Amino acid sequence: MPINFDKETKRWLLETENMGYVFGLDDQGKIKNLYWGSKLPRVQDYPEVKDLILMDRYTWNDEFSVRGEKNNVEHCLKVEYCDGVRDVVLNYKSFEVSGNDLVIRLSDDHYNLSVNLFYKVIEKYDIIERWVEIENNSNQEIKIEDMKSVSLYVENDEKAKLNYLTGMWGSEFHLRREEINEGSKVLESRVGKTSAYLNPFFAIDYSADEDHGKVYFGELAWSGNWKIVVQKRIYERIAIIGGINDWDFSYILEPSEKLTAPKFVFGFSDEGFTKASQNIHHYQLDYILPKDKAHILRKVLYNSWEATTFNVNEENQKILAEKAAKIGVELFVIDDGWFGKRNDDHAGLGDWYVNKEKFPNGLQPLISYVKSLGMDFGIWVEPEMVNPDSELYRKHPDWVISFPNRPKSLERNQLMLNLAREDVKKFIVDFMDNLLTQNDIDFVKWDMNRHVFESGWMQVEPRKQREIWVKYVWNLYEILKYLREKHPQVTFENCSSGGGRVDIGLMQYSDQVWTSDNTDPFDRLEIQEGFSYAYAPKIMMGWVTDWGGKDTYPLAYRFHSSMMGSLGIGADLNKFSEKDFDLARHQVQLYKEIRQIVQEGYQFRLSSVINERYFAVEYLSKNKDEGVLIYLRNPRRFGLFDRVDVKLKGLENDAVYTVYEGLQGEEKEIIKLSGKALKERGIIIEDSSKDFFETGKATHFYSRILRFRKRD
Ligand code: GLA
Repeated sequence: MPINFDKETKRWLLETENMGYVFGLDDQGKIKNLYWGSKLPRVQDYPEVKDLILMDRYTWNDEFSVRGEKNNVEHCLKVEYCDGVRDVVLNYKSFEVSGNDLVIRLSDDHYNLSVNLFYKVIEKYDIIERWVEIENNSNQEIKIEDMKSVSLYVENDEKAKLNYLTGMWGSEFHLRREEINEGSKVLESRVGKTSAYLNPFFAIDYSADEDHGKVYFGELAWSGNWKIVVQKRIYERIAIIGGINDWDFSYILEPSEKLTAPKFVFGFSDEGFTKASQNIHHYQLDYILPKDKAHILRKVLYNSWEATTFNVNEENQKILAEKAAKIGVELFVIDDGWFGKRNDDHAGLGDWYVNKEKFPNGLQPLISYVKSLGMDFGIWVEPEMVNPDSELYRKHPDWVISFPNRPKSLERNQLMLNLAREDVKKFIVDFMDNLLTQNDIDFVKWDMNRHVFESGWMQVEPRKQREIWVKYVWNLYEILKYLREKHPQVTFENCSSGGGRVDIGLMQYSDQVWTSDNTDPFDRLEIQEGFSYAYAPKIMMGWVTDWGGKDTYPLAYRFHSSMMGSLGIGADLNKFSEKDFDLARHQVQLYKEIRQIVQEGYQFRLSSVINERYFAVEYLSKNKDEGVLIYLRNPRRFGLFDRVDVKLKGLENDAVYTVYEGLQGEEKEIIKLSGKALKERGIIIEDSSKDFFETGKATHFYSRILRFRKRD
């Protein structure tokens, strides 16, 4: 039983395979958090350890921290009742367990506000999902000023370090690791989307490394403004409070209305970061990604954006499609520029009809051609945006998010439609529905290329205007949910100037993400390394492009960098030589052979490109019988070495593995070794700095893909 209630001590014990989470009812009728960490001995099995967790120790560790009574931790819930009272007093009412689900019912009786805390225990991945529903059962409005999803608590120990992901456009997902000092560290977004600046993910570790030590982590299922506060007070447990950002937020909860604070997912590993990441990855595949496609392999795609930018037309796309088919691409995607008067980024957004100069007979001839080449067809849209130079804006200037008498700041020459409005929502649903009904489209890249500033919604009463932040996101989710149900054949890719809206909220409605516009194959490695802490490789799209210089990076290095997740190609195929085509065909075929393991298997970061002279990532099949090693040199750590020992992980000590290279049928065996030897001694990669001595010129960007399989 994953959820137990001990009547005598009035404690709830939530247990996964390796994690325990305990909270209880104190004698004042308040729910206090008592423990989060390694699984503890069952109370019922060890009556003598009942006092292991002392009730009074954590008087301020409210399981749901509200503004009210003695609580002065960062809050989850702040309200203003109609008479001006701003303290919330919650009392425990009841609970209900059903399998892996638990609900704890609380209420502020005087004002008839009920608060339900929901938990779902994911035993296999040592994860708990928590979300909160509040309901106004009175006949007066209640103003909600803050409604976060969790207040969590971890040990206060000087070894505790906070890990989080930071970045910007073209440089997303940099991992930071720092001491936690007294006071509050705020990770947040205030720009109306998840943002590339910070990602709604945290991990706190205690001198952990990849394979050892305690790691606590969490991430939020929300694609708008969010906030995670890590608050430390001397001698007390460290608190982590997370959810929708209270900055510029308020919501008028009408009588009988319910409001849900989104899912915050948290988990624990006492076997270091690798286990934590693997659990997150597999949890996302099993519980977050849309069920219909979660375990279907992602296709190798070609996206023509970098080759033709806005200058798309039927003819040049057909030429690229032919070349893409030649190297084994399975999905051809046309990006920006196919609609309205979209010849550059100054005009056209909002006018979602096919540009007749570029496609005189509509999209269908291109689509049929792509299909005749045996590929699926995909298309780019940016539905939430409008250019001032567009028919849509001229017709509906009031649809954009803005304040009167204030500037309407442009980003990439565009404004944002106010998706919180029902008419805007309907406009998007209708044009997307038409586009997908009238054309045989299998894939949509849904982009969103700016931040929200001047967040005005002037058409509603001032006291409701701040609801824009949440209503926008709800409508976005509803649109995608509707489109997915209506057009189940379509795969959705989420993009926001690259990785600006990567979170498990939107992942519930999109199958993959465009990780970063920075496709430089070396820069990418740090981005991909950071990404892997919080999100599954399958979700991460990487393209082989010409970024960083076609001649700087060998084509194989570009492929190997992009093969660490789901593979795409964005290079200008018109510039490919016959040799490039041959190599690309080979790499695409190799990827097809290994993608089951890369996309669905266990990922091990064998080294960090930030600190080491190479980046090596291992992927092990679900049954652990087969694996892949992707090795890329870090040229910034160039030294006179030509042999690197890469130690594998996750293998059986006594089994014998054949390590080989190449495609099925033409494999080149490298060595046979026991699992133990591969783990302890490693595979020797003959790196190429020896070229330096032979030719005087080093191949800085050296890479290899090795495969291994357990011998029967
Ligand atoms: C954004 C995306 C790119 C591309 C362009 C098109 O920058 O991140 O991949 O789609 O828009 O304008």
